[in-house]
This record gives sequence, structure tokens and C-alpha cells, in this order.
Amino acid sequence: MIIAIDGPSGTGKSTTAREVARKLNFTFFDTGAMYRSAAWWIVQQGINPDDERKVVDSIHTFVYEIQTQDEQQRRYFVGGVDVTQAIRSHEISTIASKIAVYGQLRRELVKIQREFGKKANAVFEGRDMGTVVFPEAEVKVFLTASSSVRAQRRYRELLVKFPDLAQSLSEEQILKDIEERDHKDSTRAISPLKKAPDATLIDTSELTVDEVVDQILVLIRQKKKSCPSMRVTYGFVYWVARLWLKLFYRLQIEGLSHFRAGSAIIAANHASNLDPPIVSISCPCEVHFLAKESLFHIPILGRLIRHLNSHPVSREATDVATFRLIIGLLQSGQKVIVFPEGRRTSDGKIQLIERGLPFLMMKAKCPIQPVYIQGAFEIWPRTRRFPKLFGRIRCVFGSPIEWDEFEGLGKKIAEQRIMSRMTEALCKLQKWTESGAHGTPP
Ligand code: DC
Repeated sequence: MIIAIDGPSGTGKSTTAREVARKLNFTFFDTGAMYRSAAWWIVQQGINPDDERKVVDSIHTFVYEIQTQDEQQRRYFVGGVDVTQAIRSHEISTIASKIAVYGQLRRELVKIQREFGKKANAVFEGRDMGTVVFPEAEVKVFLTASSSVRAQRRYRELLVKFPDLAQSLSEEQILKDIEERDHKDSTRAISPLKKAPDATLIDTSELTVDEVVDQILVLIRQKKKSCPSMRVTYGFVYWVARLWLKLFYRLQIEGLSHFRAGSAIIAANHASNLDPPIVSISCPCEVHFLAKESLFHIPILGRLIRHLNSHPVSREATDVATFRLIIGLLQSGQKVIVFPEGRRTSDGKIQLIERGLPFLMMKAKCPIQPVYIQGAFEIWPRTRRFPKLFGRIRCVFGSPIEWDEFEGLGKKIAEQRIMSRMTEALCKLQKWTESGAHGTPP
């Protein structure tokens, strides 16, 4: 699990993030310290921070290491030199903010941050954790506080941790510094300091660290509840299938920040027989889907798909029986995968949405979670008997289409609007995916 905490300096980000990490036994990662360490390295190399090309080049020789005896005793090393104290100087703060605008440098540092993110449950703090580095973080928090409160805190922190440095600075100077850096950090073109739309804003001006930590822990608890843990058998099949899709088809999942608690119609484009397992294992919690009854008679497959919450639909079943089954699941708070185009595409293109989707939404009054699958058609189109062994698949979750948008409309109008909203959502996701974008999909 990744917890992304962003905000300007002096909002209590580091202390809060460290405490949240300690309470959860997660790793803590202060990305500001990384930008500061890079600034220290540049000064050390005698490079002018205004010379973007040289700064970017020097990052290829930047060897960064974090050592932790315990969380209070975290030390940062660059090329083997302990820079923990040096990176807190006024000069380094200014240079860090200056070089943080260089896109290529950010890309290099982001790569390292994402690598760390893969290794363990972690709390990451910085400026662009929720927007750029981990747009799929399960919990995102954006901290703010008035600039005067932040300057006071910074000054007190320096007095305790680095008294020599504090003596050479005044509170006014720190305030001016903070405001200048805020301006630079939030107006830069690349990865500016900005709240992710799905982040929770917490103003810490009047709160103690414990109060902020408690609020974040409540958010994490709520998030965990939104995805109740999987049953053992479901979890086993889920992870085996996930491993297979990752290894053979390099499955990439985007947009999980759009995933929410409660019932939802998970509606995906349909290009291949691989679509149901792709979507179900891309979802972070148990979901349901329908499958042809004949599949349940196949010895191992039948058992597996039953454990993955698939429900048999016989060839003779009327639409009414099938819809009744889906509506029942949705009304009991489940998520159900449907393919609203009705059948697999024959040319890889998105097809017209059928009337079943609006019918389900109007009956269950729950959101639609649009999903775009890319790559499954190339691997296993209708014309192939068996799938190709290797390929590349992306499963992209878009922002939910809420029932509120259509509530109160006449049946016919609502039906038309739901179908066109779904088509629009799929087309937007397709465009976003094909542009090679990463981050939060539309
Ligand atoms: O959080 P801090 O004050 O230690 O950060 C030092 C500088 O690094 C700050 O001016 C902004 C920059 N920074 C950034 O651009 N992106 C991050 N993820 C973290 C810090």
C-alpha cells in the first residue's frame, strides 16, 4: 500500500508522514530530502544550478543512500558522504527548489522513488506524490497551513535539530524564503505542487501532529474497508492469474484512484476472451462476472472461475434472468463486470453501447466504472483459436459515471444519455491510453 502525502514545507508533512509510517510499520520516504541531496551533489561538483544540461548530466553520477537505525535516526548519504545536516542549509533549500523545475532531473529521481515504492508498503511525502509519482496511491493527503504558522514551525524545528543553522536565520527570513519557494514550486510547468483531485485536504494550522496523524489513520482505515480482504481461495486464484498476466502480457493497471467502495457496474470494452480475467484481476477487491455455463463443466477451469465469483449463464437463459442476477448482486453492494457492447469486437474498435447498460444503472441506481482494455485484441481476437503467448496489455480505470447525473430524467432520455456518456468515457480512455499517458486517466 502506498500513502502519498503532499504539501508545501512547514505543514508538518515530514513529522506526520514519519509518524503515520511508524504506527503502521510502513517505510517512510522523504522525497524533499532527495531533491536536497541532489542539490548538494551539484554544489559539490561545482556545477552552476542554472545550467540545466550540466545539472541533468550530473544526476547520472548521483549515488543516493538512506540508512535507518530507527525512524528518528534516519541519515542520508550521497556518494558515501553523510549529508543529513548539510542538506538543511538555506543555500541547499534554494538550489533544491531551483533544480526541481528541470523535467529530465525529475524523471530520473521519480524512477528511483517508484523503485522504492515497489519494495514495501510506504508513506511517501513530497510535492507530486499523489499527482505524478503515485497517482494510484491508495490514500492521498494534501496538507496546508498558513505561511506564518509554517515559518514559525520551520524556525522551531531548526532550533532543535540544527541550532547552528537556526542562529544564522531569522523567522522573517524563513517566512520570505517559504513564500518564494511556494511560488516557485507551485508555478513551475513540470509537476507543480498541487493537490490531486482525489486527495483529502487537511489544514494543519490549528492542529497538533497527533490530530493530523489520527485523521490520516482514519482515512486509511476507511480505504481498507472499501476493499475488504479477499477470501483465501479467491485471493489465491487472483494472485496466480495476476502473475500470469504480468509475466506473459506485462499487464499495466492505471487509474485505480478512481476505484471506490460499494456497488458499481464495471463496464469495459470487449475485444477478447481474456477481458473478464484482465478486468477482475485489475480490480483491487473481489468482483463478480458472468460466464457461459459450459465453461463451468470444464474440470479445472470450472472450479477456478467459480472461485473468482463468476456466475453461470446458460444459452437458454432469457435476458430477464441474467439481468435479474446482475441487479441482485449490485443491490447487495457488489461490483459486477459487464461488457456493454454486448459482444466481442471483430476489428478492435469500440462498438455501440447496448441498452442493457442503462437498464442496469436505472434499476440498481449505482455508478458505472468505465474501463478501457488495450492490447487484448492483438493477443486473442475472435479469429484466433488460442491466444498468443506474449503481448502487452493495459487496463485503465476511468472516473466513475454517477447515477445523480441522470436521476429525475425521463426513462428514454436517461437511457440515451447513459449510453452516450459511456461511449464518451470509453473514447476518452482510449485516446488517453493510446497517447501513452501515465498518471490519472480521465
Ligand atoms: O520538502 P522540502 O522542503 O525538503 O523540499 C525541498 C525542495 O524540493 C522543495 O523546494 C521542492 C522540491 N521537491 C519537489 O519538487 N518535489 C518533491 N517531490 C519533493 C521536493
